[in-house]
Amino acid sequence: METKLSVNINKIATIRNARGGNTPNVVQASIDCERFGAQGITVHPRPDERHITTQDTYDLSKVVTTEYNIEGYPDERYMNLIAELKPAQATLVPDPPHVLTSNAGWDTETHLENLRNIITEIKKHGVRTSIFVDTNLKNIEYAAKTGVDRIELYTGPYAEQYPINREKAIAPYVAAANLAHELGLGINAGHDLSLENLAYFKEKIPYLAEVSIGHALISDALYLGLENTIQLYLKRLI
Ligand code: PXP
Repeated sequence: METKLSVNINKIATIRNARGGNTPNVVQASIDCERFGAQGITVHPRPDERHITTQDTYDLSKVVTTEYNIEGYPDERYMNLIAELKPAQATLVPDPPHVLTSNAGWDTETHLENLRNIITEIKKHGVRTSIFVDTNLKNIEYAAKTGVDRIELYTGPYAEQYPINREKAIAPYVAAANLAHELGLGINAGHDLSLENLAYFKEKIPYLAEVSIGHALISDALYLGLENTIQLYLKRLI
């Protein structure tokens, strides 16, 4: 199965915001990522706008020609953004406004009703839905009950364990992916995926539809260049 590479460009906005001008240009970077082979662009517009701003999400929606994926906590602001921009995919993350990065998936049993309502609402706009979850099988089971199209597996723990014992690191992801597939869910993955750990993840996880990668990819681009880096990530997904 083809696995799409969606480049998360939050970090480009972080560098831009450090100086308050428009360098590097987030819109141009997105156009270039696609030109260099990325099959999707991901952003996570946080309420404090510390990287991607609301304006960025509008500007990007006019230029992204591959799959535009907007991540976020489904508050009123996020829901309005999705209704207006109708991106290819809305990825729901459970993090409160001020955390540094998404570092946990949804407790889908506790939030079942709420998630079901939100997902129904988003689907009315013709937007594909995904929810960020860990590998706890109960969370996968309840994810399916929300009516969501896909899950995004939180790969932070995989990336942490990979250098120590990759077989042990991947095992819960194989189980989670198999169950998700059985339940009719598509499978995305993201967080701390890198040139080092991506190929093994792709090799072992059946039915991987998309990975979204930001931190490591943009960091690699400092040394290797953006075009070359994207090509290297794409090669890990063959
Ligand atoms: N997926 C989700 C839900 C995220 O919040 C992030 C980070 O913004 C990523 C994927 C990408 O993670 P990383 O920047 O570590 O590649």
